[in-house]
Amino acid sequence: IKSESIVEIDNVENAQQLEEIRIKYLGKKGELTQLLRGMGQLSPEERPLIGQLANEVRDQINDKIEETAYCLKRKDLEKRLRSEFIDVTMPGKKKQLGNRHPMTKVLNEIEDIFIGMGFTVVEGPEIEKAYYNFDALNHSKYHPARDMQDTFYITEELLLRTQTSPNQVRTMEKQKPPIRVIVPGRVYRADEIDATHSPMFHQIEGLVVDKGITMANLKGTLDIFAKKLYGEKTQTKFRPHHFPFTEPSAEMDCTCSACGGTGCRICKYTGWIEILGAGMVHPNVLANCGIDTEVYSGFAFGMGLDRITMLKYDISDLRLMFENDKRFLDQF
Ligand code: PHE
Repeated sequence: IKSESIVEIDNVENAQQLEEIRIKYLGKKGELTQLLRGMGQLSPEERPLIGQLANEVRDQINDKIEETAYCLKRKDLEKRLRSEFIDVTMPGKKKQLGNRHPMTKVLNEIEDIFIGMGFTVVEGPEIEKAYYNFDALNHSKYHPARDMQDTFYITEELLLRTQTSPNQVRTMEKQKPPIRVIVPGRVYRADEIDATHSPMFHQIEGLVVDKGITMANLKGTLDIFAKKLYGEKTQTKFRPHHFPFTEPSAEMDCTCSACGGTGCRICKYTGWIEILGAGMVHPNVLANCGIDTEVYSGFAFGMGLDRITMLKYDISDLRLMFENDKRFLDQF
């Protein structure tokens, strides 16, 4: 039994086989156990001799099993250590860090400038009522901007806002003057995509309403804004324009920050860059919001964030801003 079991134990490959062998020889019904049980049939002289021998064999098999179990455990551990080995001398993989989108950077800059002048930043819905996008903003029933060819309609009354200006009305409905807010956000127009057009782009709206607000406040505020954004030397000029919701209306140009106004590729050799639309809030709009036009007046402005960002960083194609190619984004 002893030599037989030892050969078997030597050939064992895992803990389970070892346990099977232990049961085979030393278990309740094991070969050696049976043998010890059969001792009653032996003569009194034989009994102590055979008994002692059997006990010795049992202890030896036990020892052998314990030793083998220990070896198996060690082998197992070695195997695991080998498979989990980490070569700390291998060069590491560098973590790819993201960075802020150029438009987010410019937006943060613009927000900071206006916050510094006492404005607060608010937001409004991208899915807007035609009432806020057009009617309350003094667009006639037949204004061309309402055309399905220009505006994405959801229903007759709901659309994707074509401008951030509806938030002039939303703000004045919620808040009594004095009002000083800017409203950044996405706007939508049914345009074909090309280097300067996209069906989705970004605007920043501004609105100031208080007692005694005049065109001088509009010009002063926007001139300071331009100087903070493009540098102290920047000059501004205002050209007459038309918007249904402001009267009078204007567009503001700045001297080109790339060439300082002498003319370059970026300003198409004019020295000037158009950056926003603005005007005195139309009395009809104030009245639509229940604001007393005898007491209060205001000015509003709106600028294209995409355009300002492209000019600032000399980006030639609007599409680059929406593709999120890391090679592009890493440059800012
Ligand atoms: N909403 C106008 C546009 O989309 C810009 C604007 C805003 C003009 C506020 C005047 C006042 O072009």
